[in-house]
Amino acid sequence: MDLSHNTILITGGATGIGLELAREFLARENKVLVCGRREEKLREAKRRNPELLYRVADISEAESRKKLAEWAVAEGVNILVNNAGMQREIDLTKGIEALEAGDNECRINFEGTIYFTAELIPHLMKQKNAAIMNVSSGLGFVPMTITPIYSATKAGIHSYTLSLRHQLEPTGVKVFELIPPTVDTELDRGARARRGQKDRGIPATDVAKAAMEGMVFDTPEITAGMAANLVNAARQPAFDAIFSRMNARH
Ligand SMILES: NC(=O)c1ccc[n+]([C@@H]2O[C@H](COP(=O)([O-])OP(=O)(O)OC[C@H]3O[C@@H](n4cnc5c(N)ncnc54)[C@H](OP(=O)(O)O)[C@@H]3O)[C@@H](O)[C@H]2O)c1
Repeated sequence: MDLSHNTILITGGATGIGLELAREFLARENKVLVCGRREEKLREAKRRNPELLYRVADISEAESRKKLAEWAVAEGVNILVNNAGMQREIDLTKGIEALEAGDNECRINFEGTIYFTAELIPHLMKQKNAAIMNVSSGLGFVPMTITPIYSATKAGIHSYTLSLRHQLEPTGVKVFELIPPTVDTELDRGARARRGQKDRGIPATDVAKAAMEGMVFDTPEITAGMAANLVNAARQPAFDAIFSRMNARH
């Protein structure tokens, strides 16, 4: 697809992978909108990249999603990147307390993506060169059990993206899935360092570059680094044939 002269909204675009995607898009003469909950991060991103436009928004809150969608529509968005997310280590043996001790990954990573996308689909269907890119994770294909809910939300995003792509195909809205491996960002809020994990992952710039190449060549599932190994490990040879049979268009 054409990666210039678009209006692109990146959720969670003030930091990490989202910010590097924003910088790649800005370098290709696009208007780039970003959002997040922490205004200081958004301000800092804009200080370094003055062309960025931003709004404080929480994609896990329905009202906030509606206002964000109104802004994006008013700005003429034609590409949505669902990148906002968070990751928690959760000990499932601790029961409900463990789930309630921090942000709710189901509401942010999963529900936020699905409901926010739904706000924008009717608008995107009327735009030229329209696309949606959902950022999942290699952990959606092979779960890391210390981050059980995170891994499950990303498996859910993968499944949702398959259905979204199939349903939107006749409308012309392209649907991409960006599947990163471990990336050196603050996603885990220091958990990797606390558990002594030495591998910080690949730089976010590598993921953003892979995304640009994948989008230009209309690659529906875009992997970066060793994420391809996890995708291949999980994918059964018969998958595509069974998927097509179950979802045949009449
Ligand atoms: N880093 C990795 O190893 C890795 C691997 C595979 C996939 N990914 C995926 O890549 C995406 C980006 O993560 P990252 O690694 O770049 O980490 P990051 O720097 O922490 O980026 C996540 C962004 O999402 C925003 N966000 C979180 N909750 C939000 C909410 N409720 N509403 C709006 N924005 C929200 C955060 O800002 P606020 O906190 O200010 O809202 C932050 O800017 C995530 O979906 C993540 O799951 C990351």
